[in-house]
Amino acid sequence: MRMQEPKKHLLLFLLSLSLFLIKNKEAKATINNSTDSTMIPKKDIHSYAKPSDAVVKHLDLNLKVRFEENRLEGIAEVKIERFNNADTLILDTKHLTIHEVKDAETGKQLAYEIGRFDKNLGSALQINLDTNTKLVHVKYSTSNNAEALQWLESGQTLNKKYPFLFTQSQAILARTWIPIQDSPGIRFTYSAKVTVPKGLLALMSAENPISKNETGIYSFTMPQPIPAYLMALSVGDLEFKSLGKRSGVYAEPAMVDKAAKEFADLEKMISAAEELYGEYKWGRYDLLVLPPSFPFGGMENPRLTFATPTIIVGDKSLTSLVAHELAHSWSGNLTTNATWNDFWLNEGFTVYFENRIMEKLYGKEYEEMLAFLGYQELLNEIKDLGATNPDTRLKLDLKGRNPDDGVTSIAYQKGNLFLRNIEAAVGRARWDKFLNSYFEEFQFRTIDTETFLNYLNAELIKNYKGLEEKINAKEWIYEPGLPKSHPELTSSKFEIIKKQSQNWIKTQEIKSLNTSNWSSHEWVYFINNLPEKLNSNQLEMLDESFRLSQSNNPEIQFSWYLLSIKNNYLTAYPYIKDFLTNVGRRKFVLPLFKELVKTEAGKAFAQEVYKEARPLYHFVTMNSVDQLFM
Ligand code: BES
Ligand code: ZN
Repeated sequence: MRMQEPKKHLLLFLLSLSLFLIKNKEAKATINNSTDSTMIPKKDIHSYAKPSDAVVKHLDLNLKVRFEENRLEGIAEVKIERFNNADTLILDTKHLTIHEVKDAETGKQLAYEIGRFDKNLGSALQINLDTNTKLVHVKYSTSNNAEALQWLESGQTLNKKYPFLFTQSQAILARTWIPIQDSPGIRFTYSAKVTVPKGLLALMSAENPISKNETGIYSFTMPQPIPAYLMALSVGDLEFKSLGKRSGVYAEPAMVDKAAKEFADLEKMISAAEELYGEYKWGRYDLLVLPPSFPFGGMENPRLTFATPTIIVGDKSLTSLVAHELAHSWSGNLTTNATWNDFWLNEGFTVYFENRIMEKLYGKEYEEMLAFLGYQELLNEIKDLGATNPDTRLKLDLKGRNPDDGVTSIAYQKGNLFLRNIEAAVGRARWDKFLNSYFEEFQFRTIDTETFLNYLNAELIKNYKGLEEKINAKEWIYEPGLPKSHPELTSSKFEIIKKQSQNWIKTQEIKSLNTSNWSSHEWVYFINNLPEKLNSNQLEMLDESFRLSQSNNPEIQFSWYLLSIKNNYLTAYPYIKDFLTNVGRRKFVLPLFKELVKTEAGKAFAQEVYKEARPLYHFVTMNSVDQLFM
């Protein structure tokens, strides 16, 4: 007999309440809202999953990679934990074709339903479970619009011989290639078997092979529980080069030596990170250098960071990106934001940590430069968004929106500045001690902003008089813009550049600029801080003296091209076109197109370039740029 709905709800509610109370009693008294892998995660507005009914604990994935059709054919077998006699399991899917669902142990078919499609969230796959179902087998294939996947033809790789595939699952794209509970609050372990064409190597965010084999079949295990957004796969003609006892780099053969030189300090970075915030918990740390269409600078896939090739410039100047992705092995991968509204907990902590690693490796002056550029980026972002814009709060409200909308400098740089504010208030020693215990306490767990605040209060603020006002956490987190009193950053190296720049503006004499020892950071600072309007003589003088349009450092190129567009400096345009049709990193591509479409002439040029560039971009970049032309 079916129970009446309201009664059933009441019973379920009482049951979960008592479960919650029992579990909570075991948790430390200082933590009020904590959720961890043994507790029932919070509702996440970007997932259909109902983990309080049935939650995925382990995934066993079997994939065939079909380059002929740009398709993955897969079997996902998920081990679940069930609560309250729940009889359904809900997985997230987007554009997946489901062929069959069964109980993996009994072989019995399970009825399922695919819910209404939402353009951000995709569709719920609701599976009716048998009384004893613990292992669910889903046979499926991906489609042409699997947004996580980029299938590159051989012509888009370095060797021009083999095709290439890579995934980008963050934030909610794992569901476009795996039927899974795609919420950062849900962690599971995984194993996988991936079949690829002969001559190619498959790699995942897991224990990886170091060379190709004859069969084209590769096996993977990830023994630590991770959220779905850290699921990753890449397939290509890849080679491995070791960088030390627990690190190395994978890249296309023509790139692997250059990459190894660029990342020569990787072992030192790992040690520096461990000295700061505790043991590295993932075994190996390897890098994978992708083709230039990779839509991000880096992605912290556990054990195997994915990176853009645009940071390989020959002078190690852009390796802070590696420090950033490495830092995510603590902030993000160990201690994970509970929902995308808490994204700053991932990125703000990581930028802070990244800067500390760079300071340890290359000194205070170097770190000051990085931090200052980040600070200027923040001021610009707040100016662009508007100081009262709710999206300038650390705690976001992304209901009904794409979590991508939350990927702004606010999470990264306002988050970082807030943490620097705490450091300034309590002193580095106490702050580091706090961070060590934070990563210890919340390892392999998810955390929301409120849990962090409670922990901060219990472990730090409560013990010291006057600290609450100084730290001012509520304003930093829940109010838009920047609090009046915030750390003021300075850089002694940039002060020197500033003087020279002012001199040049005044005298128009190129010898005012003593550029021979400038690092790319000094160039970026110089270009970003020139007057908004320059005349063509000035731009030509700089370009002819320093060949800025032809730079091969993408950070310098980006700043210079932006300035060129703002000043309608046409000499740079062919180089801009070249850049936009070669690099798919959204952080560069989107602002350049945005600036171009501001004028009629620029828009025509942008349209012409985009027509050529669009097919080369990953969905993530394409979706963002498309908006500009709608
Ligand atoms: N995890 C992010 C990339 C990301 C964020 C992908 C949100 C999808 C949604 C990664 O760690 C990151 O922040 N990358 C930056 C690197 C930079 C800040 C050093 C990037 O790609 O620019
Ligand atoms: Zn990051």
